[in-house]
This record gives sequence, C-alpha cells and structure tokens, in this order.
Amino acid sequence: MLTEIRAYTRLRLPVVEAHGCEITLADGRTALDLYGGHCVNTLGAGDSGLADRLARQWQKLSFTTNLLDHASRREFLEALDATLPQGGAAGWQVFCTNSGAEANENALKIACAATKRRRVVYFQGAFHGRTAAAAAVSDTKIAQWPSSPFETQKLPWGDTAAAKAAINGDTAAVILEPIQSLAGVVEPPAGFLEGLREACNQSGACLIFDDVQTGNGRLGTPWSAQHYGVTPDLFTTAKGAAAGLPIGLTVARAEVSSRIPDGLLGSTFGGGPFVLSAAAEVARRVMEPGFLRNVREASAAFRSAALRGPVERVRGAGLLLGLVLRPGLKGSAVRDALLERGVLVGTSDDPRVLRLSPPLTIAPAAAQRLASALESVEAVA
Ligand SMILES: Cc1ncc(COP(=O)(O)O)c(C=O)c1O
Repeated sequence: MLTEIRAYTRLRLPVVEAHGCEITLADGRTALDLYGGHCVNTLGAGDSGLADRLARQWQKLSFTTNLLDHASRREFLEALDATLPQGGAAGWQVFCTNSGAEANENALKIACAATKRRRVVYFQGAFHGRTAAAAAVSDTKIAQWPSSPFETQKLPWGDTAAAKAAINGDTAAVILEPIQSLAGVVEPPAGFLEGLREACNQSGACLIFDDVQTGNGRLGTPWSAQHYGVTPDLFTTAKGAAAGLPIGLTVARAEVSSRIPDGLLGSTFGGGPFVLSAAAEVARRVMEPGFLRNVREASAAFRSAALRGPVERVRGAGLLLGLVLRPGLKGSAVRDALLERGVLVGTSDDPRVLRLSPPLTIAPAAAQRLASALESVEAVA
C-alpha cells in the first residue's frame, strides 16, 4: 500500500465533512473549527455562494493558458483593487501563483531585480515557506537547503534600532509577517513597522509584508497595511485568498514592479479562471457591508471567551489570536483536551501558545463554546 513521504504529524481521527465552522470526525463527533484549515477557510467550509460561482465557472471556462485573457481575471482584478491600501501615485500590480511560498519567492525576486541588490533582511521567529528563497528567510523550521539564493541577515524581532542600523544601501528587501503566526502569534512592538518603513525609505530597500495569514480580512481590515497604518512596497498572500483553492498573490507598488526585466515571472496554473473566480468572490465578500465588522465583533467575543481556565492571556488581532497558557501547561495537551470537548484549535512553535484562526464568518456567539470547553479543561488539568 502506497504511503506518503513523512511531512505532517496528523491528529488521530480523519475528518469526514465540514460545513461552515463545523467539522465532523470519523467517529461521528462534531467540533467547532477554530483553526479554519490554517487561515484558509475564509468564508467557512462549503460556502454556497462560492460553490454556485465555481460550478458556473467550471462549466463555462475551467482552465486556459495565461496567454489568453478572460472575464474571471478582469473580475478578480477589479474586486482585489477595491481592497487595496493607497499604493502611491502609480498604484499596485499583482502576480498570481499557487501558494504562499511562491508568493514570497516572487516578491523577493522582484525586490532583488528592482533594486539590483542581493541582501535580504529577515527576523528571528519568521516563517515564509519552504521553497529555496522563502526558506532562506525563515527562522522557524530553518532553511534546509544547501545554500541561499541571496545573502541574508537575521535580526531580532521588534528591535527597531538594530533594524535601522542594519538596513542600508545594500539591502534589497526587508521581509516580515506583521504578526508572526507560527512563532506563536507574536505582535510587532509599537513603532517597529513604522521604523522599518522609515529605514526602507531612506535606503531604497523594499519593505515586504507577508500577509499569507494576516491578509484577506483576517485582522478586521482587508490587509495588515490598513490595520497598522503602514504600507509596504510589496505584500504577499495565499491561504484564505481563494477560500480553499491553491493561490499565491504577490502585490507590488507599480513603481517597484515596473523596474523588473521582461521574462522574470511566469506560472502555468497561477491566475487560471477557476481559482481567480474564487479569489474574486473572496475579495468581493470581504468588502461586503458587515463582513469585516463581524471579524472585529467575533474577535472581541473570542478574546473574552478565551481568557479563562488554562489561558493566562490572549494576544494577536482580529481572528488571528494566540492563547498563552499558564506556565507548565503544554499546548498540544490542551489542544487534544479541547478537541475531546468539541473545539478544534491549532498549536504553534511556542509550546505555550495555541492559535485561533477560524473562518471569518464565524458568529460571535460561537465563542461561548470555547469558553465552556476551556472551563471544563481546567477542571481536569
Ligand atoms: C506567514 C506564512 N508565509 C508563508 C507560508 C507558506 O505558504 P504555503 O504553505 O502556501 O507555501 C505560510 C504557511 O504556513 C505562512 O504561514
């Protein structure tokens, strides 16, 4: 019997089906999905609006080469445009691929080509993916490639003075997750993003925000730029951008992307009509009245629901929340106990931090189920 190459530590029970924020496991039990497939299920599982749209798209135009234009691309560009922060005089441009790692790979490639420099600054705790360039700037799950495609410089997270001293005329790019998710939902200290923006302005380096988790409405704004009031030169996203279909987006200020040579970018599947139909639907829904308000209201409800039992404090923003456990408690054990009580949460690289990244459509009232589960976990801890 064929097996997979070792990559994931799976939970004991397979999932059988999922609807909205509810998953059904193989033994028939259901659980509230507060993990959302790692920030992917933006609209909840099996959203009917998206299902109808995709069924129509598949029958009309399932796939075509990137050498042909199509209505789905135009709809996507129009919908994405409405979500973007102010992008300077020339606005933004986007390049479509299939994953977060690819989105970052291409952002770094664009930055190196546009600046004609070859040094990239990244931060302790960073995770940007597992392909060569993305892994070279990832600290968590360290790069396991024989060499890096460019020079790298790792800096302490949140140290504005160290960053200002390091970023100079040799720096092509500074890449970071505005909130480091896998590292344990670690927020940027006050003034850090502004300091990086200033250092990049002065040196001509490109500031890249990895919005793979923090984008697509997750922080209660379309992108992290609007949440923090700091606009990068490039930002990337993936995961939730097509609500369950593989996608990577590299968004660049046109002043930067207009400086790259012809032939630098390409992808067979990236930007196909089916996936862009899903991405257009996500961008449209994120901007619908009430969608982002729900993210903010659900965020407030989950923050207060989580602060009990084994949880000492809650950090993060919007619906990317880190539950910091009381000293001595182990994240994976509390995660397992919560699943026994019908609530699925994620762990992180910090054994004391659990992560919540539910569908953005989750009702604030669902937070009560987390509160009850956490209270009963404490009873057995
Ligand atoms: C912040 C961040 N960047 C990049 C990636 C890589 O995305 P993918 O797995 O789609 O390549 C991830 C995946 O977890 C991520 O969390």
